[in-house]
This record gives sequence, C-alpha cells and structure tokens, in this order.
Amino acid sequence: MRVNGLLHYGLQVPSLETGQNFYSSFGLDTAERDNSLVVRCSGRDLDQTVLTEGPEKRLHHVAFSVDAGSLPNWQRHLETLDIRIVDPPRQVSGGLWFRDPDANLVNLREEALAPWRPFDTLPANFGDEIRRVDQALWPTLNEKTQPRRLGHVLIFSSDNTRSEEFYRRSLGLRLSDRIPGIATFMNTGSGDHHVFGFIQSTHPGLHHSSWEVANLDQIAVGARSMAEAGHTTGWGLGRHSVGSNLFHYIRDPWGSWIEYFSDIDQITEKWEPQDWDTSPAVWCPVMPGEFIVNQESKPE
Ligand SMILES: [Fe+2]
Repeated sequence: MRVNGLLHYGLQVPSLETGQNFYSSFGLDTAERDNSLVVRCSGRDLDQTVLTEGPEKRLHHVAFSVDAGSLPNWQRHLETLDIRIVDPPRQVSGGLWFRDPDANLVNLREEALAPWRPFDTLPANFGDEIRRVDQALWPTLNEKTQPRRLGHVLIFSSDNTRSEEFYRRSLGLRLSDRIPGIATFMNTGSGDHHVFGFIQSTHPGLHHSSWEVANLDQIAVGARSMAEAGHTTGWGLGRHSVGSNLFHYIRDPWGSWIEYFSDIDQITEKWEPQDWDTSPAVWCPVMPGEFIVNQESKPE
C-alpha cells in the first residue's frame, strides 16, 4: 500500500502570532481554526501547515493523503506490521494516527490532494528553447511571491536507515536517493523527486519545509521580501545536487528552515535510487554552519 502524497506538517510553537506573521511574509494564507493556525497556499483548498501552541517549538506531526474509504485497510496493514494505532492528539482531529521509530506522530487522512493553481508566468528563453518573442519579461516580475503548494518536508532522524525502512514498510514510500549518513530522500511514485526525507541527527525535529514557486525570479523576489520583513538569515540562491531544484532557504523564527523551490527533477516508477557522495548543492553560497544543526530539544 502506498499513500497518495504529503498533505501537511504540524508544528507546535510558543506563539501562533509569530507563526502567522512569518508564514504570511513568506506568501502563504493563514487562518485561525479551533485554537490552531492553519496555513494554505493561495488558490489551493488544502491545509499545508497546522500550528498549535505549546511551550517550545517542536515538530508535531506529518500528515499523508490516502484514498477515501481506505482507512480500515490502512489500519489492518499497520497492525500487520505491529504498528500501534494511537489516539488523535488533543489539538488535531481526524484520520488514523501512529508513531514512527523516533516517536513522531504520523497521520493518515482521507483527504484528496487538492489541485494547485497554474502559474501565471510568461515563457522563458533558455538555451535553444526560444518561447518568448516580442514580449518584455521584466514588467511582469514585481508580483509578490506566493507558493502554490507544499512540495516536501525533511525531518531529522536519529537513524536514517531505520526511518527509511519504517516509512517504506508502513506508508509505501519509495527511496529516491541517499547521501549516506547525511540525508535520505523518498517519493510517493511519479512526480517530484522527493516529498519526504530525513537528515541524520541525534533526535527528531523539523529540518525544513519546501514550497514551490514558478521560477528563479519568484525565488529571488521572495527571498528579498523575507529579508525586508526581517528574516535575513538564509541560504541561497543555489541549485541542489540530489533533486536538482533551485533553492533559497530562510531561517524560521524557531531555528528550522523554509525553502522556496523551483524546477525539481520529476521521476516515474522507472527511477533508480543511488547512493551519492556529494555536497548538497551544485552551486550556492557557502552553507551556514547551523544549516544541519537540529535546534529542537531532545525529547525526554
Ligand atoms: Fe528541500
């Protein structure tokens, strides 16, 4: 059995207002709901982040989409693997809940992956592909950056190999590629090179969430407006190695990262994973030393 894709991630944070300001600056829509803050992409009818209030910032859960009516089958499947179903947390209801080997909550929901809005951008002239003639590009580039979907989430794992095996067996995620001992990237079948993955650490936490924008200009405009809003710590602009996407990361108010991405590798069932001995980017500014430091405290 395999999940359809990533729906959202949940974060516990000390202040919903801080979260509201940060995600709004990033170009996302926010709304309060039942003592939580829900984050959505403009033009897309789908929760992509759910913030709840708690004493310190902590990854709260990760939610995946499954087919309507399939939860009883999923429950049987998980029980066959000796994975215990747990009660839903107090702040977030719905679906089936269990814990991964690092005790992260995982949520399966009978919620479809809502379509995302098409990009309203002019075609690009790159290399031999000339697709824009007698049309000036620059007057169209001042729009505020608004991501159209959550693409992927990478979490810290205390054991990448164990996490990879767990999510393969439980959710049917497929391995995309690995940088052994550092990062593991997984997919849900045809589509983005990775929708979920792990960064090796001593304990769990959120490393980053990544949001799709149309092109390089939207990444740069977004990074600039985040800096103007006071979020000046970041890493980018760059082109990743594994996944090949263009990126710019901004540090969030709690020490993890949020990424604008564009032009990620698209894969099918034919994709063959490999182990790579590579740095995380083909080109980029120098990576900040704290980029792969897990700022969440170790659970007791
Ligand atoms: Fe990423």
